[in-house]
Amino acid sequence: MITLRTITLENRRAMFNLEVSDDQKRFVASNLSSVASCHVLATNGGHPFPFVIYENEQRVSFVMLAYGITGYDEPSLAKDNYCIMLLMIDKHHQNKGYGKEAMHKIMEFIRTYPAGLAQYCWIPYSPENTSAKKLYETFGFRDNGEVFNEESIMVAEL
Ligand SMILES: CC(C)(COP(=O)(O)OP(=O)(O)OC[C@H]1O[C@@H](n2cnc3c(N)ncnc32)[C@H](O)[C@@H]1OP(=O)(O)O)[C@@H](O)C(=O)NCCC(=O)NCCS
Repeated sequence: MITLRTITLENRRAMFNLEVSDDQKRFVASNLSSVASCHVLATNGGHPFPFVIYENEQRVSFVMLAYGITGYDEPSLAKDNYCIMLLMIDKHHQNKGYGKEAMHKIMEFIRTYPAGLAQYCWIPYSPENTSAKKLYETFGFRDNGEVFNEESIMVAEL
């Protein structure tokens, strides 16, 4: 079973060691740099929600969610909505259905509105990342036509 768990002293090193394959590195920032972004967000009034994702007791994935992103070059809906800033499944655990299960848990968590009510969830992604796009479409995300830092924006209503 897939669960989202907070970063702890015990799991932090394993989380930093989760990685995508070399050809996927152009699609996502490193987990380390995402955790640094969490700090920057939090000190600028945003609400970051980083999680290590487990399949039973095995760490397989990292996700960074956020609400209230300001100060970056971002779409207009960024300020008052939720964002899946980064989702990665470790290269050894891809194509086993974990991405899909993780997305169920992520959307369930977002719909608890942990930082306040919102109408939308958005995701920046590289247009070349067709497998990610396909996955997000399954959850109701659609391109809204905006592009920021060479990443397209997909949006779903909550
Ligand atoms: C995209 C990603 C999160 C998908 O996670 P995953 O655990 O491998 O995906 P799943 O096994 O749950 O499969 C989900 C769907 O995507 C499809 N899929 C997964 N990898 C695929 C690939 N390389 N090519 C084509 N389709 C793929 C599966 O067929 C499945 O579709 P289906 O339900 O119609 O069968 C994962 O490949 C990943 O971490 N990639 C690198 C980081 C990244 O690009 N993150 C997204 C940034 S926006």
